[in-house]
Amino acid sequence: MDLFEYQARDIFESYGVPVLAGIIADTPEEVRAAAEKLGGTVVVKAQVKAGGRGKAGGVKVAHNPDDAAAASETIFGLDIKGLTVKRVMVAAGARIKEEYYFSVLLDRANRSYLSLSSYEGGMEIEELAVERPEALARIEVDPLVGIDLAKATEIAIAAKFPAEIVAKVAPVFVKLYEVYTGEDATLVEVNPLVLTEDGDIVALDGKVSLDENAAFRHPNHEALVDSGAEDPLEAKAKALGLNYVKLDGEVGVIGNGAGLVMSTLDVVSYAGENFGGVKPANFLDIGGGASAEVMANGLDVILGDPQVKSVFVNVFGGITSCDAVANGIVGALKTLGDAASKPLVVRLDGNKVEEGRAILADYAHPLVSLADTMDDGASKAAELASK
Ligand SMILES: Nc1ncnc2c1ncn2[C@@H]1O[C@H](COP(=O)(O)OP(=O)(O)OP(=O)(O)O)[C@@H](O)[C@H]1O
Ligand SMILES: [Mg+2]
Repeated sequence: MDLFEYQARDIFESYGVPVLAGIIADTPEEVRAAAEKLGGTVVVKAQVKAGGRGKAGGVKVAHNPDDAAAASETIFGLDIKGLTVKRVMVAAGARIKEEYYFSVLLDRANRSYLSLSSYEGGMEIEELAVERPEALARIEVDPLVGIDLAKATEIAIAAKFPAEIVAKVAPVFVKLYEVYTGEDATLVEVNPLVLTEDGDIVALDGKVSLDENAAFRHPNHEALVDSGAEDPLEAKAKALGLNYVKLDGEVGVIGNGAGLVMSTLDVVSYAGENFGGVKPANFLDIGGGASAEVMANGLDVILGDPQVKSVFVNVFGGITSCDAVANGIVGALKTLGDAASKPLVVRLDGNKVEEGRAILADYAHPLVSLADTMDDGASKAAELASK
Protein backbone atom coordinates (compact mmCIF):
# COMPACT_ATOMS: atom_id res chain seq x y z
CA MET A 1 0.00 0.00 0.00
CA ASP A 2 1.40 3.37 -1.04
CA LEU A 3 0.92 6.28 1.32
CA PHE A 4 0.20 9.91 0.61
CA GLU A 5 3.01 12.37 1.25
CA TYR A 6 1.25 13.80 4.32
CA GLN A 7 0.91 10.31 5.83
CA ALA A 8 4.60 9.67 5.20
CA ARG A 9 5.39 13.05 6.78
CA ASP A 10 3.45 12.14 9.93
CA ILE A 11 5.21 8.77 10.23
CA PHE A 12 8.61 10.42 9.66
CA GLU A 13 7.85 12.89 12.43
CA SER A 14 6.92 10.12 14.87
CA TYR A 15 10.32 8.48 14.23
CA GLY A 16 12.23 11.71 14.70
CA VAL A 17 13.04 12.27 11.02
CA PRO A 18 13.27 16.07 10.59
CA VAL A 19 10.25 17.37 8.66
CA LEU A 20 8.49 20.72 8.38
CA ALA A 21 5.02 21.52 9.65
CA GLY A 22 2.27 20.47 7.27
CA ILE A 23 -1.52 20.77 7.40
CA ILE A 24 -3.89 18.98 5.06
CA ALA A 25 -6.72 20.90 3.41
CA ASP A 26 -9.62 19.93 1.18
CA THR A 27 -10.85 23.38 0.12
CA PRO A 28 -9.24 26.76 -0.69
CA GLU A 29 -10.75 28.13 2.56
CA GLU A 30 -9.00 25.42 4.55
CA VAL A 31 -5.81 26.23 2.66
CA ARG A 32 -6.10 29.88 3.65
CA ALA A 33 -6.65 28.93 7.30
CA ALA A 34 -3.70 26.54 7.22
CA ALA A 35 -1.44 29.18 5.68
CA GLU A 36 -2.50 31.69 8.33
CA LYS A 37 -1.72 29.17 11.04
CA LEU A 38 1.72 28.34 9.61
CA GLY A 39 2.57 31.96 8.82
CA GLY A 40 5.17 33.16 6.33
CA THR A 41 5.92 31.41 3.07
CA VAL A 42 4.14 28.11 2.49
CA VAL A 43 4.12 25.49 -0.23
CA VAL A 44 0.78 24.07 -1.40
CA LYS A 45 1.29 20.47 -2.49
CA ALA A 46 -1.10 18.16 -4.33
CA GLN A 47 -1.69 14.90 -2.44
CA VAL A 48 -1.88 12.18 -5.07
CA LYS A 49 -0.11 8.85 -5.17
CA ALA A 50 1.99 9.67 -8.21
CA GLY A 51 5.40 11.16 -8.86
CA GLY A 52 6.15 14.32 -10.81
CA ARG A 53 3.63 16.47 -8.97
CA GLY A 54 5.83 19.54 -9.22
CA LYS A 55 6.21 19.28 -12.99
CA ALA A 56 2.46 18.80 -13.36
CA GLY A 57 1.75 22.09 -11.55
CA GLY A 58 0.81 20.39 -8.30
CA VAL A 59 3.41 22.13 -6.07
CA LYS A 60 3.16 25.92 -5.63
CA VAL A 61 4.92 28.41 -3.36
CA ALA A 62 2.78 31.14 -1.77
CA HIS A 63 3.90 34.09 0.34
CA ASN A 64 0.62 34.86 2.11
CA PRO A 65 -2.71 33.15 2.90
CA ASP A 66 -4.55 34.79 -0.04
CA ASP A 67 -1.94 33.60 -2.52
CA ALA A 68 -2.01 30.13 -0.95
CA ALA A 69 -5.79 29.92 -1.39
CA ALA A 70 -5.50 31.17 -4.96
CA ALA A 71 -2.70 28.71 -5.75
CA SER A 72 -4.76 25.86 -4.35
CA GLU A 73 -7.62 26.70 -6.72
CA THR A 74 -5.35 25.79 -9.62
CA ILE A 75 -4.27 22.58 -7.85
CA PHE A 76 -7.62 21.17 -6.70
CA GLY A 77 -9.13 19.12 -9.51
CA LEU A 78 -5.82 18.96 -11.38
CA ASP A 79 -5.24 15.69 -13.22
CA ILE A 80 -1.85 14.21 -12.38
CA LYS A 81 -1.12 10.97 -14.20
CA GLY A 82 -4.81 10.08 -14.26
CA LEU A 83 -5.39 10.96 -10.59
CA THR A 84 -7.57 13.90 -9.58
CA VAL A 85 -6.30 16.13 -6.78
CA LYS A 86 -8.87 16.27 -3.96
CA ARG A 87 -6.58 17.16 -1.10
CA VAL A 88 -3.48 19.28 -0.67
CA MET A 89 -0.91 19.68 2.07
CA VAL A 90 0.03 23.19 3.07
CA ALA A 91 3.66 22.89 4.15
CA ALA A 92 5.92 25.40 5.82
CA GLY A 93 8.32 26.79 3.24
CA ALA A 94 11.97 25.77 3.48
CA ARG A 95 14.88 27.95 2.41
CA ILE A 96 16.70 25.33 0.38
CA LYS A 97 20.45 25.38 -0.09
CA GLU A 98 20.96 21.91 -1.54
CA GLU A 99 18.74 18.96 -2.55
CA TYR A 100 19.69 15.29 -2.09
CA TYR A 101 18.14 11.90 -2.70
CA PHE A 102 17.80 8.92 -0.38
CA SER A 103 15.78 5.72 -0.47
CA VAL A 104 15.79 2.24 1.01
CA LEU A 105 13.75 -0.50 -0.56
CA LEU A 106 13.13 -4.21 -0.75
CA ASP A 107 15.34 -5.73 -3.44
CA ARG A 108 13.39 -8.86 -4.32
CA ALA A 109 15.77 -10.05 -7.02
CA ASN A 110 18.69 -10.11 -4.58
CA ARG A 111 16.65 -11.15 -1.54
CA SER A 112 18.01 -8.16 0.26
CA TYR A 113 17.48 -4.49 1.01
CA LEU A 114 18.94 -1.81 -1.19
CA SER A 115 19.73 1.78 -0.45
CA LEU A 116 19.89 4.32 -3.27
CA SER A 117 21.30 7.73 -2.57
CA SER A 118 22.74 10.73 -4.29
CA TYR A 119 24.34 14.01 -3.38
CA GLU A 120 22.79 15.36 -6.57
CA GLY A 121 19.08 15.70 -5.96
CA GLY A 122 16.53 17.97 -7.54
CA MET A 123 16.34 15.73 -10.57
CA GLU A 124 13.99 12.87 -11.16
CA ILE A 125 15.75 9.79 -9.91
CA GLU A 126 14.82 7.69 -12.94
CA GLU A 127 16.47 10.35 -15.11
CA LEU A 128 19.55 10.50 -12.90
CA ALA A 129 19.88 6.70 -12.99
CA VAL A 130 19.97 6.78 -16.78
CA GLU A 131 21.93 9.96 -17.44
CA ARG A 132 24.42 10.01 -14.57
CA PRO A 133 24.44 6.50 -13.07
CA GLU A 134 27.77 7.23 -11.36
CA ALA A 135 26.03 9.89 -9.24
CA LEU A 136 23.65 7.34 -7.76
CA ALA A 137 25.11 5.09 -5.07
CA ARG A 138 23.52 1.64 -4.87
CA ILE A 139 24.47 0.03 -1.58
CA GLU A 140 23.16 -3.33 -0.46
CA VAL A 141 21.86 -3.37 3.10
CA ASP A 142 22.03 -6.60 5.06
CA PRO A 143 18.63 -6.96 6.75
CA LEU A 144 20.30 -8.58 9.76
CA VAL A 145 22.53 -5.57 10.31
CA GLY A 146 20.39 -2.77 8.90
CA ILE A 147 21.54 0.83 8.59
CA ASP A 148 23.42 1.81 11.71
CA LEU A 149 25.54 4.92 11.86
CA ALA A 150 28.54 3.14 10.33
CA LYS A 151 26.48 1.85 7.42
CA ALA A 152 24.78 5.23 6.96
CA THR A 153 28.21 6.86 6.79
CA GLU A 154 29.35 4.32 4.20
CA ILE A 155 26.23 5.11 2.13
CA ALA A 156 26.73 8.88 2.34
CA ILE A 157 30.39 8.60 1.34
CA ALA A 158 29.50 6.33 -1.59
CA ALA A 159 26.91 8.93 -2.66
CA LYS A 160 29.74 11.52 -2.74
CA PHE A 161 28.48 13.73 0.09
CA PRO A 162 31.29 16.01 1.33
CA ALA A 163 32.58 15.12 4.79
CA GLU A 164 30.77 17.89 6.74
CA ILE A 165 27.44 16.87 5.17
CA VAL A 166 28.05 13.15 5.75
CA ALA A 167 27.99 13.84 9.48
CA LYS A 168 24.62 15.59 9.10
CA VAL A 169 22.79 13.19 6.79
CA ALA A 170 23.99 9.87 8.24
CA PRO A 171 21.85 10.10 11.42
CA VAL A 172 18.84 10.93 9.24
CA PHE A 173 19.49 7.84 7.08
CA VAL A 174 19.50 5.78 10.30
CA LYS A 175 16.12 7.21 11.31
CA LEU A 176 14.66 6.61 7.84
CA TYR A 177 15.79 2.99 8.09
CA GLU A 178 14.01 2.79 11.45
CA VAL A 179 10.85 3.90 9.66
CA TYR A 180 11.48 1.25 7.00
CA THR A 181 11.78 -1.67 9.41
CA GLY A 182 9.54 -0.33 12.16
CA GLU A 183 6.59 0.07 9.82
CA ASP A 184 7.35 -3.01 7.67
CA ALA A 185 7.75 -0.84 4.58
CA THR A 186 8.97 -2.01 1.19
CA LEU A 187 10.01 1.52 0.22
CA VAL A 188 10.99 4.67 2.03
CA GLU A 189 12.08 7.43 -0.33
CA VAL A 190 12.93 11.06 0.29
CA ASN A 191 13.28 13.27 -2.78
CA PRO A 192 14.37 15.84 -1.95
CA LEU A 193 16.16 15.55 1.34
CA VAL A 194 17.43 19.11 1.73
CA LEU A 195 20.07 21.15 3.43
CA THR A 196 18.50 24.47 4.47
CA GLU A 197 20.17 27.89 4.54
CA ASP A 198 20.25 27.41 8.32
CA GLY A 199 22.30 24.24 7.93
CA ASP A 200 19.54 21.77 8.85
CA ILE A 201 18.72 18.54 7.06
CA VAL A 202 14.98 18.19 6.33
CA ALA A 203 12.90 15.59 4.50
CA LEU A 204 10.79 17.79 2.19
CA ASP A 205 8.96 14.97 0.48
CA GLY A 206 8.25 11.36 1.41
CA LYS A 207 7.15 8.24 -0.36
CA VAL A 208 6.39 5.18 1.76
CA SER A 209 5.01 1.83 0.62
CA LEU A 210 3.85 -0.54 3.33
CA ASP A 211 3.91 -4.31 3.09
CA GLU A 212 0.27 -5.36 3.41
CA ASN A 213 1.34 -8.86 4.43
CA ALA A 214 2.54 -7.32 7.69
CA ALA A 215 -0.72 -5.46 8.33
CA PHE A 216 -1.56 -7.78 11.23
CA ARG A 217 1.42 -6.36 13.10
CA HIS A 218 0.22 -2.79 12.59
CA PRO A 219 -3.39 -2.20 13.58
CA ASN A 220 -2.78 1.52 13.01
CA HIS A 221 -2.15 0.97 9.28
CA GLU A 222 -5.86 0.34 8.72
CA ALA A 223 -6.52 4.04 9.18
CA LEU A 224 -4.07 4.84 6.35
CA VAL A 225 -6.14 3.06 3.70
CA ASP A 226 -7.62 5.40 1.12
CA SER A 227 -11.05 3.78 0.97
CA GLY A 228 -12.24 6.18 -1.74
CA ALA A 229 -9.66 4.86 -4.19
CA GLU A 230 -10.24 1.16 -3.61
CA ASP A 231 -12.09 -0.84 -6.27
CA PRO A 232 -15.58 -1.30 -4.72
CA LEU A 233 -15.69 -5.01 -5.54
CA GLU A 234 -12.22 -5.57 -4.09
CA ALA A 235 -13.29 -3.68 -0.97
CA LYS A 236 -16.42 -5.81 -0.66
CA ALA A 237 -14.45 -9.04 -1.13
CA LYS A 238 -11.90 -7.90 1.45
CA ALA A 239 -14.67 -7.18 3.96
CA LEU A 240 -15.98 -10.71 3.37
CA GLY A 241 -12.52 -12.16 3.91
CA LEU A 242 -12.14 -13.40 0.32
CA ASN A 243 -8.94 -13.51 -1.72
CA TYR A 244 -10.18 -11.59 -4.74
CA VAL A 245 -8.37 -9.68 -7.46
CA LYS A 246 -10.29 -7.97 -10.24
CA LEU A 247 -9.01 -8.57 -13.77
CA ASP A 248 -10.14 -7.23 -17.15
CA GLY A 249 -11.91 -10.15 -18.80
CA GLU A 250 -15.40 -11.62 -18.99
CA VAL A 251 -15.20 -15.06 -17.36
CA GLY A 252 -15.64 -15.00 -13.58
CA VAL A 253 -13.42 -17.62 -11.92
CA ILE A 254 -13.90 -19.31 -8.56
CA GLY A 255 -11.64 -22.04 -7.30
CA ASN A 256 -10.28 -23.49 -4.09
CA GLY A 257 -6.59 -23.02 -3.55
CA ALA A 258 -4.41 -20.31 -5.07
CA GLY A 259 -2.53 -22.78 -7.29
CA LEU A 260 -5.69 -24.19 -8.81
CA VAL A 261 -7.12 -20.72 -9.38
CA MET A 262 -3.89 -19.52 -11.03
CA SER A 263 -3.89 -22.45 -13.45
CA THR A 264 -7.61 -21.95 -14.08
CA LEU A 265 -6.84 -18.39 -15.19
CA ASP A 266 -4.30 -19.78 -17.67
CA VAL A 267 -6.66 -22.42 -18.99
CA VAL A 268 -9.52 -19.92 -19.39
CA SER A 269 -7.25 -17.48 -21.26
CA TYR A 270 -6.09 -20.28 -23.53
CA ALA A 271 -9.63 -21.52 -24.20
CA GLY A 272 -10.77 -17.93 -24.70
CA GLU A 273 -8.55 -17.61 -27.76
CA ASN A 274 -11.05 -19.78 -29.63
CA PHE A 275 -13.86 -17.40 -28.71
CA GLY A 276 -12.64 -13.99 -29.77
CA GLY A 277 -10.06 -13.50 -27.01
CA VAL A 278 -12.32 -13.92 -23.96
CA LYS A 279 -10.33 -13.62 -20.72
CA PRO A 280 -10.74 -14.25 -16.97
CA ALA A 281 -12.56 -11.48 -15.10
CA ASN A 282 -10.98 -12.10 -11.71
CA PHE A 283 -8.99 -14.25 -9.35
CA LEU A 284 -11.02 -15.65 -6.47
CA ASP A 285 -9.75 -18.31 -4.13
CA ILE A 286 -12.43 -19.47 -1.70
CA GLY A 287 -9.91 -21.56 0.21
CA GLY A 288 -10.34 -24.92 1.84
CA GLY A 289 -13.70 -24.76 3.59
CA ALA A 290 -15.97 -23.85 0.70
CA SER A 291 -19.17 -23.57 2.71
CA ALA A 292 -22.46 -22.38 1.25
CA GLU A 293 -21.85 -19.00 2.82
CA VAL A 294 -18.36 -18.59 1.36
CA MET A 295 -19.59 -19.78 -2.04
CA ALA A 296 -22.55 -17.35 -1.88
CA ASN A 297 -20.23 -14.49 -0.93
CA GLY A 298 -17.86 -15.39 -3.76
CA LEU A 299 -20.63 -15.65 -6.34
CA ASP A 300 -22.19 -12.44 -5.06
CA VAL A 301 -18.94 -10.51 -5.56
CA ILE A 302 -18.32 -11.97 -9.02
CA LEU A 303 -21.86 -11.50 -10.27
CA GLY A 304 -21.67 -7.89 -9.07
CA ASP A 305 -19.03 -7.23 -11.73
CA PRO A 306 -20.90 -5.93 -14.80
CA GLN A 307 -18.06 -7.16 -17.04
CA VAL A 308 -18.71 -10.79 -16.09
CA LYS A 309 -20.65 -12.76 -18.72
CA SER A 310 -20.20 -16.28 -17.36
CA VAL A 311 -18.71 -17.94 -14.29
CA PHE A 312 -16.44 -20.97 -14.09
CA VAL A 313 -16.40 -22.74 -10.71
CA ASN A 314 -13.44 -25.09 -10.61
CA VAL A 315 -13.15 -27.03 -7.38
CA PHE A 316 -11.01 -29.95 -6.39
CA GLY A 317 -12.50 -31.76 -3.42
CA GLY A 318 -9.92 -32.54 -0.78
CA ILE A 319 -10.51 -31.77 2.87
CA THR A 320 -13.78 -30.22 1.76
CA SER A 321 -15.49 -32.92 -0.27
CA CYS A 322 -17.35 -32.25 -3.53
CA ASP A 323 -20.78 -32.92 -2.00
CA ALA A 324 -20.19 -30.13 0.52
CA VAL A 325 -19.11 -27.82 -2.29
CA ALA A 326 -22.15 -28.79 -4.38
CA ASN A 327 -24.40 -28.09 -1.40
CA GLY A 328 -22.57 -24.79 -1.07
CA ILE A 329 -23.36 -23.89 -4.68
CA VAL A 330 -27.02 -24.89 -4.28
CA GLY A 331 -27.22 -22.89 -1.05
CA ALA A 332 -25.57 -19.93 -2.78
CA LEU A 333 -28.03 -20.04 -5.70
CA LYS A 334 -30.95 -20.16 -3.26
CA THR A 335 -29.52 -17.26 -1.28
CA LEU A 336 -28.86 -15.18 -4.37
CA GLY A 337 -32.18 -15.96 -6.08
CA ASP A 338 -32.62 -13.67 -9.08
CA ALA A 339 -29.24 -12.07 -8.45
CA ALA A 340 -27.69 -15.25 -9.91
CA SER A 341 -28.33 -14.14 -13.47
CA LYS A 342 -25.34 -15.40 -15.43
CA PRO A 343 -24.48 -18.91 -16.64
CA LEU A 344 -22.38 -21.02 -14.30
CA VAL A 345 -20.12 -23.82 -15.44
CA VAL A 346 -19.11 -26.15 -12.60
CA ARG A 347 -16.30 -28.64 -12.68
CA LEU A 348 -15.92 -30.82 -9.62
CA ASP A 349 -13.31 -33.47 -9.07
CA GLY A 350 -11.72 -35.34 -6.19
CA ASN A 351 -13.22 -36.50 -2.93
CA LYS A 352 -16.93 -37.54 -3.30
CA VAL A 353 -17.16 -36.23 -6.85
CA GLU A 354 -20.08 -38.50 -7.81
CA GLU A 355 -22.16 -37.32 -4.87
CA GLY A 356 -21.36 -33.70 -5.67
CA ARG A 357 -22.35 -33.98 -9.30
CA ALA A 358 -25.56 -35.81 -8.36
CA ILE A 359 -26.56 -32.95 -6.04
CA LEU A 360 -26.15 -30.38 -8.81
CA ALA A 361 -27.83 -32.62 -11.41
CA ASP A 362 -30.84 -33.10 -9.10
CA TYR A 363 -31.09 -29.37 -8.39
CA ALA A 364 -31.11 -28.79 -12.18
CA HIS A 365 -30.77 -25.02 -12.06
CA PRO A 366 -31.30 -23.66 -15.61
CA LEU A 367 -28.12 -21.54 -15.48
CA VAL A 368 -25.83 -24.30 -14.17
CA SER A 369 -24.02 -26.75 -16.41
CA LEU A 370 -21.52 -29.40 -15.37
CA ALA A 371 -18.16 -30.02 -16.99
CA ASP A 372 -16.11 -33.19 -16.74
CA THR A 373 -12.65 -31.69 -17.03
CA MET A 374 -10.96 -28.36 -16.39
CA ASP A 375 -10.31 -27.81 -20.13
CA ASP A 376 -13.88 -28.68 -20.95
CA GLY A 377 -15.22 -26.32 -18.27
CA ALA A 378 -12.94 -23.46 -19.33
CA SER A 379 -13.99 -23.88 -22.93
CA LYS A 380 -17.72 -23.93 -22.07
CA ALA A 381 -17.41 -20.87 -19.84
CA ALA A 382 -15.41 -19.00 -22.49
CA GLU A 383 -17.97 -19.86 -25.13
CA LEU A 384 -20.86 -18.68 -22.93
CA ALA A 385 -19.01 -15.42 -22.22
CA SER A 386 -18.52 -14.76 -25.92
CA LYS A 387 -22.24 -14.91 -26.71
N1 LIG B 1 8.13 22.71 2.01
C1 LIG B 1 8.82 23.13 0.95
N2 LIG B 1 9.51 24.29 1.00
C2 LIG B 1 10.20 24.73 -0.07
N3 LIG B 1 10.28 24.08 -1.23
C3 LIG B 1 9.64 22.92 -1.34
C4 LIG B 1 8.86 22.38 -0.26
N4 LIG B 1 8.33 21.21 -0.67
C5 LIG B 1 8.75 21.03 -1.92
N5 LIG B 1 9.53 22.05 -2.34
C6 LIG B 1 10.19 22.18 -3.67
O1 LIG B 1 9.35 21.63 -4.65
C7 LIG B 1 10.01 20.57 -5.31
C8 LIG B 1 9.01 19.46 -5.63
O2 LIG B 1 8.42 19.01 -4.40
P1 LIG B 1 8.19 17.47 -4.12
O3 LIG B 1 9.46 16.73 -4.21
O4 LIG B 1 7.48 17.35 -2.86
O5 LIG B 1 7.24 17.08 -5.29
P2 LIG B 1 7.64 16.30 -6.63
O6 LIG B 1 9.00 15.77 -6.56
O7 LIG B 1 7.34 17.13 -7.78
O8 LIG B 1 6.66 15.21 -6.53
P3 LIG B 1 7.09 13.71 -6.54
O9 LIG B 1 8.16 13.51 -5.51
O10 LIG B 1 5.82 13.09 -6.19
O11 LIG B 1 7.61 13.44 -7.93
C9 LIG B 1 11.10 20.12 -4.38
O12 LIG B 1 12.18 19.54 -5.08
C10 LIG B 1 11.47 21.41 -3.68
O13 LIG B 1 12.41 22.11 -4.46
MG1 LIG C 1 9.67 14.62 -4.72
